[in-house]
Order: sequence, then C-alpha cells, then structure tokens
Amino acid sequence: MRTNPLDYPMVLADPQRITVDPAWVGHIPFAFVLVEMLKPATVVELGTYRGNSYCAFCQAVAALKLPTKCYAVDTWKGDEHTGHYAEQIYQELRAYHDPRYASFSTLLRMTFDEALSHFADGSVDLLHIDGLHTYEAVKHDYETWRPKLSPRGVVLFHDTARREQDFGVWKLWDEIRGSGPSFEFNHFSGLGVLSPGGAPAAEVRDFLNDARANPKTVLRFFETLGNRIDAEITLHNLGNFLDQTQRFLDAWKSDLSQPAAQAPINGHVNPYAAAGRVARDLAAVRAAAKRV
Ligand SMILES: C[S@@+](CC[C@H](N)C(=O)[O-])C[C@H]1O[C@@H](n2cnc3c(N)ncnc32)[C@H](O)[C@@H]1O
Repeated sequence: MRTNPLDYPMVLADPQRITVDPAWVGHIPFAFVLVEMLKPATVVELGTYRGNSYCAFCQAVAALKLPTKCYAVDTWKGDEHTGHYAEQIYQELRAYHDPRYASFSTLLRMTFDEALSHFADGSVDLLHIDGLHTYEAVKHDYETWRPKLSPRGVVLFHDTARREQDFGVWKLWDEIRGSGPSFEFNHFSGLGVLSPGGAPAAEVRDFLNDARANPKTVLRFFETLGNRIDAEITLHNLGNFLDQTQRFLDAWKSDLSQPAAQAPINGHVNPYAAAGRVARDLAAVRAAAKRV
C-alpha cells in the first residue's frame, strides 16, 4: 500500500524549539513523521548541540503521548566542525528541556564511546548520528553503535550531502545504504535513513520502499515542508531586524535634530556613519527577503 505522509498528523506540526543554528530544521517534518511511524521504544541521539533535532524527537514523543525513552549524548563542548563552544549552550538547552521533557528524556553529558555501556545491545529503535562528520569519526560512531540497534531499528545520518573539506558521511553512506531499506533526503545537507536490522517496522519499510519508487515526489514534499519552517524562521528574524532598524532610525532622527550634527559628539550617533550603517542594514534586509 502507498504511504501517504498526510496520514501522520505530526507532519504539519510547528516545531516548538528553533535555535539560532538552523542546520537541521529542514528535516524536522520528517523527524516528526518518523517518530509517528516507528513509535520507538528508545531514541538515542549522538550529537545534540543546541537541540534542534533532539527537541523535535522529544516534541513528537510528547505530542503523541508515546511511552518512549529518549537520550541525547554530547559532551556539549563542540568538535572540529561545530567549533568549541561555551557552557551556556548546554545550560540553555537544559533550561528548555528539563521542564518539558525530563520525565522521559535524559541528557547524557559524555562522549559517545562512554555512553555505549548505558545501552543494551539490540535496545535502540531510533539512532540519530550527528557528531563529527569526518569519514573516520562517523564510521567509528556507526560501527560502535550498530549493535545497539534493535532488529526494527532505524539509523539517521545527517550531512550525507556535504562533500567539502573533510566531510565524509557521504562515503560511509555509500558503503552502507544497501544494507537494508534506505532513503536519502538531499535538502539541508542531506539525511540518510536506514533500517539495517533485518526486521524493519512495516510502516517504515513501506515508506522507504515508496520513497525509493517515487523519489522526486517524496523529496519535494519534505523539502517544501522543511523550507516552510526555514522561511518562517527567516521572516521572524527579519521582523526582529526591522524592529531594531526602526529603533535605530528613530534615535538617529532625534540626533539629527540636535544643533551639532557633526560626529561623534557627546555620545550621540555619528550621522554619517549612521547613514552608512542604515544603508548596509537595509541592503541585508533586501537580500534576506529575496531568499524567502
Ligand atoms: C553537528 S553538532 C549536532 C547538531 C544537532 N544534532 C542539531 O540539531 O543542531 C555535533 C555535536 O556532536 C558533539 N560531539 C562530536 N563528537 C562527539 C563525541 N565523540 N562524543 C560526544 N559528543 C560529540 C559536539 O559536541 C557537537 O555538539
């Protein structure tokens, strides 16, 4: 039977947590649908950072009232690709996560290797691998965590479409994509979906088979939904930016009405520098609006 993603109401849900790093947001509609299809007993994410992807999994689990347990594994220190970041990233995620999801979700602050002993073999239904994206690192993460997947388990790989620098997820993906029903989204740096355990969940198996049979439609459908979320974020940011610009212009106008409009004087804005800044800011607004 053909899979209709609209049979999964989560597909049109609005994400509740979007942070300043939008790298994953285009995959949130699929993440919602996958949780609804798979109804995983256990979700593990390797690489959580600010929590865009992880909080999407948690949001779906909460909305669907599933008995799922979720685990996010990260040192929350960063790596060669994200850069090494401040403690505040973890604290901010905790402050968002704990009141909403702590009843079923745990943030495991440790390395991926250290977390292995916390999970029995064959116990993870949904594994999202999104740590360091070199070939060696992602191969290590997959090989060490593969035994943790249940026979019906699904593994997701972010960044399968990135080939610049030393990104190597694409290479591992090429090697393993044939080891079970699979599909690859190519928007938002790519997302590989694979069920390698030999007994895929029927709904997931049907979806992956249909997606392979009709790739254009499925790719376009999820890309369009992902772009909608991205566009909403851009519009929201533009709105904030326009508000700031308006406040800046108001202050500037009031400064220009002062007798000494040369700059900088008594802490007032330099009107010439201000004019240049406004022009640059408005050019940025126009460029951003064109992208929406
Ligand atoms: C690309 S970011 C994750 C992005 C996230 N999934 C999102 O939705 O935006 C990669 C994260 O993996 C973490 N990381 C990389 N290698 C790790 C390792 N071996 N053990 C623990 N954390 C690791 C980094 O600290 C970083 O926060």
